[in-house]
Amino acid sequence: MSENKVIDGKDFAERLRGSIATLAAEFEAKAGRKAGLAVVLVGEDPASQVYVSSKGKQTVACGMASFEYKLPADADEATLLGMIEQLNADPAVDGILVQLPLPRHLDEQKVIATISPDKDVDGFHVTNAGRLAVGQAGYVPCTPLGCLMLLKDRLGDLSGMNAVVIGRSNIVGKPMAQLLLAESCTVTVAHSRTKDLPEVVRRADIVVAAVGRPEMVKADWIKPGATVIDVGINRLPPAEGKTKGRIVGDVDYQGAVQVAGAITPVPGGVGPMTIAVLLRNALVAAYDHIG
Ligand code: GUN
Repeated sequence: MSENKVIDGKDFAERLRGSIATLAAEFEAKAGRKAGLAVVLVGEDPASQVYVSSKGKQTVACGMASFEYKLPADADEATLLGMIEQLNADPAVDGILVQLPLPRHLDEQKVIATISPDKDVDGFHVTNAGRLAVGQAGYVPCTPLGCLMLLKDRLGDLSGMNAVVIGRSNIVGKPMAQLLLAESCTVTVAHSRTKDLPEVVRRADIVVAAVGRPEMVKADWIKPGATVIDVGINRLPPAEGKTKGRIVGDVDYQGAVQVAGAITPVPGGVGPMTIAVLLRNALVAAYDHIG
């Protein structure tokens, strides 16, 4: 197995953060302030706490200002919406991210709709989803944009390729499909009701797996030479004598790496790209705000 089959997202993200740091310093010299990213966390979900702390550290490491706001799990909607409105009006804040998932009593769509589209660095606001759908400039969700960067880095021009996106979430599957369509791929979006998924995946030159099911995509579904992007981060049940299970993707990596032309590992593939792209989006927002 040749080493360069592996798409090293960790390395790519590191280089991306390097160029962001340079641009962030240029921004500070020009604007007389740092580019600022605000992250709001509601509740105490352990995975979310890890993400938020990692975002804060990387924001500061890139020379940007990080503002972190924490609300208790039982915070009411008016408190959260009021906080977002304050951040919308704050000139030191260029980007606002409300960590998802939110506690069940909060309406995610309403919360996202309250974020100013010009500070929506997650690209979740309907205005930004609409801009992506019609080919206008706007903020694009970080994970699919990171996947596209890895694909273009590896493959160059994607036009005419058959791309299969497995998963239809608003955060990954749908924007991923839009991005690949904009690159002139022939795009199929597969999901839990898709008939004969293995056969659909076998037609793909590009497979993006974003279903959240551990090792669901098997090696014999992959067309030889295809490029496989694995968005999944799933923890397996612990093996005997262990307290924590292994982290695996949505693709059977050990099998698929034998067949694919290139593949992202989990961890170290798509995961590290998400925060790097978030910082990129925040910096783009900062430059937009100073005109
Ligand atoms: N939770 C997991 N990934 C993300 C993300 O990219 N943005 C937000 N807001 N929440 C998340």
